Amino acid sequence: MSEADAVLELAVRLAREAGRLQRERYETRLEIRAKGSPIDLVTEIDRACEQLIVDGIAARRPGDAIEAEEGGAGGREDGAWRWVIDPLDGTVNYAHGYPRFCVSIGVEHEGRRRVGVVYDPLLDELYTAVRGQGAWLGSRRLRVSETRSLADALVATGFAYDVRRSEEDNLDHFAGLVKRARAVRRDGSAALDLCYVAAGRLDAYWELKLHPWDVAAGLLVVDEAGGRTSDLSGAPAPRSGRECLASNGWLHDELAAALAR
Ligand code: IPD
Ligand code: CA
Ligand code: CA
Repeated sequence: MSEADAVLELAVRLAREAGRLQRERYETRLEIRAKGSPIDLVTEIDRACEQLIVDGIAARRPGDAIEAEEGGAGGREDGAWRWVIDPLDGTVNYAHGYPRFCVSIGVEHEGRRRVGVVYDPLLDELYTAVRGQGAWLGSRRLRVSETRSLADALVATGFAYDVRRSEEDNLDHFAGLVKRARAVRRDGSAALDLCYVAAGRLDAYWELKLHPWDVAAGLLVVDEAGGRTSDLSGAPAPRSGRECLASNGWLHDELAAALAR
């Protein structure tokens, strides 16, 4: 087995274990706190899932670097393999019992996205990608949609937690796209939005001010499904998640131009 395949196997096992915990505690009474902004939440399940994943990596691959949303950095900072983890993407949904959230685990090798795993525990949908080996939903190979124009497209976006106080709030883009696309969704999980582009369920997705853990897995899944990923200007998508545009490729330039207005 190649090292990438071993990393994939471990990421899948840990994503499924964290997902099981999310499923068991879904719609139960949870300890919920606000982080920096009053709408940016963390639940005890975000933290428990992160601990489970970080411990699982440390036990099997102590030389790898780890970057995780709730502060669970670990491993060796100079490790060639780097795990970038969102233990629960869609926390606001989870806290409200809205059934759209997932576990997202991306793994970089020497600074390049190499393995991506996203697991939706309620639908039991497992998205996986290894660079050069395609993107998969379970055993089904994924391929982006064929939609050729924005007017026929279903697109999605999201809003950062500073939306109440920041002028860079994505609302102008949102309003513009509502007028131009077939429809626009805001469903609260960036990692699933990206996987839905890969699966052809969405034609495109954009968002600003994301973080590395939101996009580390999903961007690779889109690329491996034949889609295109970039920043809003069409340059390579930054690992920071600061700007993220993902599409089936056909729509990319039209959407980038619409977002440049
Ligand atoms: C959030 C979700 C949401 C996106 C936010 C993210 P979290 O992640 O992905 O869809 O709009 O920008 O921060 O906080 O639920 O892990
Ligand atoms: Ca997230
Ligand atoms: Ca999260």
